Amino acid sequence: MGLEVQDINTFYGTSHILHGVSLSIADGVTVSVLGRNGVGKSTLLKSVIGINPPHSGNIQFNGIDLANQKTHDRARTGISYVPQGREIIPDITVYENLLVAMRGKGNKNKEIPKFIFDFFPSLKPIQKQKGGTLSGGQQQQLSIARALIQEPTLLLLDEPTEGLQPSVVEEIDDIIKRIRSEKNCSILLVEQNLEFVRAVTQHFAIMDSGRIVEEGEIDMLTDELAGQYLTV
Ligand SMILES: Nc1ncnc2c1ncn2[C@@H]1O[C@H](COP(=O)(O)OP(=O)(O)OP(=O)(O)O)[C@@H](O)[C@H]1O
Ligand SMILES: [Mg+2]
Repeated sequence: MGLEVQDINTFYGTSHILHGVSLSIADGVTVSVLGRNGVGKSTLLKSVIGINPPHSGNIQFNGIDLANQKTHDRARTGISYVPQGREIIPDITVYENLLVAMRGKGNKNKEIPKFIFDFFPSLKPIQKQKGGTLSGGQQQQLSIARALIQEPTLLLLDEPTEGLQPSVVEEIDDIIKRIRSEKNCSILLVEQNLEFVRAVTQHFAIMDSGRIVEEGEIDMLTDELAGQYLTV
């Protein structure tokens, strides 16, 4: 079970971006996808969540074929997505951002579940603040909270530490470890921060020019490999 991506090809218009990408994620495992800018990491996540579905190949989640499912139906199968650049709604409050995410899953409750403020205590006192007024770190926490409120069994996280200062990166590190251990949730993490990847991941896959060129257990991610394929 888990996620099975098999031999997908994804395009933007006529530009062929992903070339025969395959990747599997077992239940409860965190897998990192690494690679330089523009190699297709975000496109892989968008293929899985259905924002830019592949033209060929297969994607199955827990045995369910996602090919003909729209993005919101994929979310109902238990997949939540945290886009690169957070994309929180700036003009409404933190509380309303969370409520919108709950509605997306069909939950009409008006109360934010307690576990959200257990995972993200710093969001509790700023619930009435507009999304656009938050710091980068707070916005990233809100973005992950919105995904987590949908109680996913697979979380797609696109560069959650991008542009954040080290103390906030450490908070995100703890949150990701807790999501995996306490929420029984697998994570597909796109990252460029090698230290962070090594701290939170069990498996890695390196992409180059729309292909997966190396993969393995995290302790096989050597400095040599990083030097060859990543910006270090
Ligand atoms: N909406 C789009 N329309 C056309 N081309 C796109 C679009 N989005 C991305 N691309 C192109 O697809 C390729 C892969 O982009 P993608 O965003 O997946 O890379 P990435 O590995 O996530 O990069 P980064 O590390 O900068 O986020 C790039 O060449 C990019 O220019
Ligand atoms: Mg990207």
